[in-house]
Amino acid sequence: MIEDMDFENRIVSPSFTSVEDDAEITLRPKTLSEYIGQDKVKDNLSIYIEAAKKRGECLDHVLLYGPPGLGKTTLAGIIAREMGVNIRVTSGPAIEKQGDLVAILTALNDGDVLFIDEIHRLSRNIEEILYPAMEDFSLDIILGKGPSARSIRLDVPRFTLVGATTRSGQLTAPLRDRFGVLLRLDLYTPEQLGQIVTRSAGILGIQIDRDGALEIASRARGTPRIANRLLKRVRDIAEIQFDGRITETVAREALKRFEIDELGLDDFDRRMLKAIITNYGGGPVGLETLSAAVGEEAVTIEDVYEPYLMQIGFLSRTPRGRCVTAACYEHLGLAPTGQQQLI
Ligand code: ADE
Repeated sequence: MIEDMDFENRIVSPSFTSVEDDAEITLRPKTLSEYIGQDKVKDNLSIYIEAAKKRGECLDHVLLYGPPGLGKTTLAGIIAREMGVNIRVTSGPAIEKQGDLVAILTALNDGDVLFIDEIHRLSRNIEEILYPAMEDFSLDIILGKGPSARSIRLDVPRFTLVGATTRSGQLTAPLRDRFGVLLRLDLYTPEQLGQIVTRSAGILGIQIDRDGALEIASRARGTPRIANRLLKRVRDIAEIQFDGRITETVAREALKRFEIDELGLDDFDRRMLKAIITNYGGGPVGLETLSAAVGEEAVTIEDVYEPYLMQIGFLSRTPRGRCVTAACYEHLGLAPTGQQQLI
């Protein structure tokens, strides 16, 4: 068992921290043209938005899925803005009772966007209210209990549901089938993240050169939220220990201090990968076993840590479990024998 670690406090955590929310909002692009990367998603969305506007209809329901921190909430805001409507933001776990959802739906204006984050966490009885609302903008409400119970049908304004999830596989089939548009967000390339870092630095008044931006970008695990967080922390070091400008040297120095290596791995990633090597001979090891060994929830390992480790080719998912790759052994300075000798 390796030591427990508060993953929300990692500098490379893709989750929001509460103090970060406001700053994050100022950095969010407001239009599709300002939004960097996810080209396929942008191309498709711009066509669907233009077509819906031309017909004077609201946009079909949209499901956004992919790892955390890639801009699903941002895209929902952009969809509303481009459609010229308001957005109401909520999340699966926040809608506890059927009445909560009824209140939200009846308060919408015609054409509004309803954004439900973590939509896979909606409970079944809430989903059942949502089906007729998504399909024909009506609600079936049961009044009373037992033999005297009766059902009434209530119309709600036409709306676009934008659902976001890190786990599209956990959505029930009837819910997934009711989305007309399914869009997968992928991790960003270092070049795209470099553009995002440069844009954010401009908004925040931070001086940074191209190599400084690329250095931060290449250690941000393909995730804009992490890139923007690193940018702010590197700025602190640049201002206190250097002349305020972020260059490649300054970025390297700062990231070394944060113990984030050239590939963006932090102490937790390295310990998890080493645990697979030392305890399980490099794998295969089942997700639940690994979860117990590293003291982290299986869903967090799957949604947060693994996508990036797989993208850089350090980890593979096989039917028998997780395996580390030769490239991973090499990066960690270990011999691929399962004997953990230093090469
Ligand atoms: N900030 C966060 N995500 C972004 C994106 N995709 N494009 C531009 N700025 C961003």
